Amino acid sequence: MLPRKPVRLDPRLPWLATTRRFLSPMAGVTDRPFRRVCRPFGADMGFCEFVSAAGLTYGGERTWALVDTDGEEDLVGVQIFGNDPEQMAEAARLLMNHRLDVLDINFGCPAKKVVKKCGGSALLADLPLLESIVREVVAASTVPVTAKIRTGWDEESVNYREVGLMLQDLGVSWVTMHGRTRAQKFTGEADWDRIADLVETVDIPVIGNGDVVDGASYRRLVEHTRCHGVMIGRGAIGNPWIFAEMKAVDEGREPVRPGLEEMCDVTVDHIRAEVAARGEKVGHFTVRKHIAKTFRGRPGSALLRKRVFATDDSESMIAILEETRRDGLPTSAEPGEEVAT
Ligand SMILES: Cc1cc2nc3c(=O)[nH]c(=O)nc-3n(C[C@H](O)[C@H](O)[C@H](O)COP(=O)(O)O)c2cc1C
Repeated sequence: MLPRKPVRLDPRLPWLATTRRFLSPMAGVTDRPFRRVCRPFGADMGFCEFVSAAGLTYGGERTWALVDTDGEEDLVGVQIFGNDPEQMAEAARLLMNHRLDVLDINFGCPAKKVVKKCGGSALLADLPLLESIVREVVAASTVPVTAKIRTGWDEESVNYREVGLMLQDLGVSWVTMHGRTRAQKFTGEADWDRIADLVETVDIPVIGNGDVVDGASYRRLVEHTRCHGVMIGRGAIGNPWIFAEMKAVDEGREPVRPGLEEMCDVTVDHIRAEVAARGEKVGHFTVRKHIAKTFRGRPGSALLRKRVFATDDSESMIAILEETRRDGLPTSAEPGEEVAT
């Protein structure tokens, strides 16, 4: 059994006691089809990509399409971002007519277009505003509210302890922390010491996040921090099997690694689900970033990627994967098809 700190659980979330493995919200990645791909492997809970409170309150069709949870049976969270407490509260109220187990507030996004409007991680540098957003959203939401933060805005203003305690006092049910500052974006390494420190600082569950790429790093993060759960971002792209590795660690088993046939089958199902959910063009495009990673590192994967990326419809993509399932990864390039490996 991995070590976990005993925590104060929100009584509205009885399932959280045994919920350990989370799929991170990721823009352009964690739509309903991908959440569904990850679940059978061991993802206990998934998140939609973040949605702008402004977009929700203006009734933006494209924003609302990202809240693709209606009828979803498994645990699912919706994440909002914004910088106007009243608008965030209004977005929360509108979301209450939809399917979600928790409402997460994004205080971690480093993207310029989000930070420029003082959303995401910018709020880590404006705690009075952060406080009033959380207060309003907690009051407006009938489902538990959670928050996702970074360690601080930059190295000089690391403030996760203060933020964590504030979130706890305001009634947030858990806090997820990506162990980097905003200034780091995705460079350097996630600081797991700081995640461990946050776990010790607050009584509510902490979900650790950053740089977990397999079962071994999952084990190391939990052993190092005693965090309640772990959220997986990039490590899940093209690799839903990471959740099977994590589950095997939790259950004290050796993980079973997927063979090529299983990789092809899961990918084909994923393509079909994306196309059904999002239409041919977007579905076909969305799944490419997964395929590029699924087969990475295997001989012939660069050529497979090149062939897949040259297709312009999902049926041709599926045909390539069925051929790969039958004959293995391509071993030699057709004339004019050479790729750098
Ligand atoms: C393509 C992409 C999109 C992301 N979108 C979101 C998002 O919508 N909301 C959020 O809180 N974090 C977002 N993140 C950050 C991840 O959720 C996660 O915190 C970060 O990637 C660190 O975890 P990892 O090392 O497991 O990837 C995104 C990351 C990536 C790579």
